[in-house]
Amino acid sequence: MRIFEDINPLQAFLRSKKANQENIGFVPTMGALHQGHISLINASKVENDITICSIYVNPEQFSNPTDLVKYPRLLQEDIKMLEAASCDVLFCPSDKVMYPERPKLKIDFGFLETTMEGKFRQGHFTGVAIIVSKLFHIVNPDRVYFGQKDLQQFLIVKQINNELSFNLQLQCVPIVREQDGLAMSSRNSRLDKKERLTAAQLYQSLTIGKQNLLVTENVFDTKNKMAHYLSAFNDIRVEYIEIVDAADLNVVNDITQHEQVALCIAAYVGNVRLIDNILLFNID
Ligand code: PAF
Repeated sequence: MRIFEDINPLQAFLRSKKANQENIGFVPTMGALHQGHISLINASKVENDITICSIYVNPEQFSNPTDLVKYPRLLQEDIKMLEAASCDVLFCPSDKVMYPERPKLKIDFGFLETTMEGKFRQGHFTGVAIIVSKLFHIVNPDRVYFGQKDLQQFLIVKQINNELSFNLQLQCVPIVREQDGLAMSSRNSRLDKKERLTAAQLYQSLTIGKQNLLVTENVFDTKNKMAHYLSAFNDIRVEYIEIVDAADLNVVNDITQHEQVALCIAAYVGNVRLIDNILLFNID
C-alpha cells in the first residue's frame, strides 16, 4: 500500500493512474478502523481499479472538545488492517496539511441541519462538509463510499455533491454489526465491559420499533415503545428517537406514503455517544 502524507505527491500518483484510464474509489475515514470501514474498502475494490482510504481526525467537526481529545488514534493498527484488505493507497495528512488556516466558511444546509444530529452537534455538518469537499478536490475520485450508520452525514454529502457540482457517485454501504447487533463504530472501544453489553440494547430497541411499526403502522406508539424499552437501562440516556423518510429525514406520519423509512436513534451509553439506525422496508 502506498502511503502519502502530503497532497502534491498523492495527486501526482493519482493523476498517473487516471492517465491510464484507471478509476478511483475513495473511502474517507477518521481512522480507528473496524470491519464497517473494511466493508467500504471492499465495496470500493469491487467497483474501482484503485482504492484510496483517508485517515484524518477532523477537528472542525467536533462540537465537543473532550470528544476530539478522546477520539481513538491507532494509525499503525489501521495500516495493518488496510494492508490486509488490499487497500491501494492511504492518505493520512497532518492538521497543517489539511488546514494551513482555520476555515471561516459556514454552510447552511437548511432543514437537514436542524434535525437529529444537527440539533445536538452545533457546527458539526459544516465541519464535515468542509473536510469532505477538500478531500474530494484533493483525491478527485470517481466513487466515494460512506456507511449507512451516518445516514444524515450521507444526505449532507449528497447535498454538497449536487449543489457544488462534484458529480461523484456516492455509495451508501449497509451497517456492519457485532454479533449482538451493536453497530460497529470507532467509539465502541471507549465503552467499558458493562457499557459494551448494554450498548447492544440500542439495536434491540430499533428491531422492536421496526416490528411494531410494520404491524401497527403507528409512528407515535412505536417511538414510545422504543423509549420505554430503553428506559429500563440505567446506563442509557436517549437523545433522540426519530422515524423519518430515509431520503430527506422528513418526519413520517404515515409509513405507506414513503418509499423508505429509517428508525434512528442517538443515545449516550455511559459517557459515550452512539448513533444507529435501521431501515423499515426490505434491506435490513
Ligand atoms: O464519517 C467519518 O468518519 C467522517 O465524518 C468523515 C466523513 C471521514 C469526515 O471527516
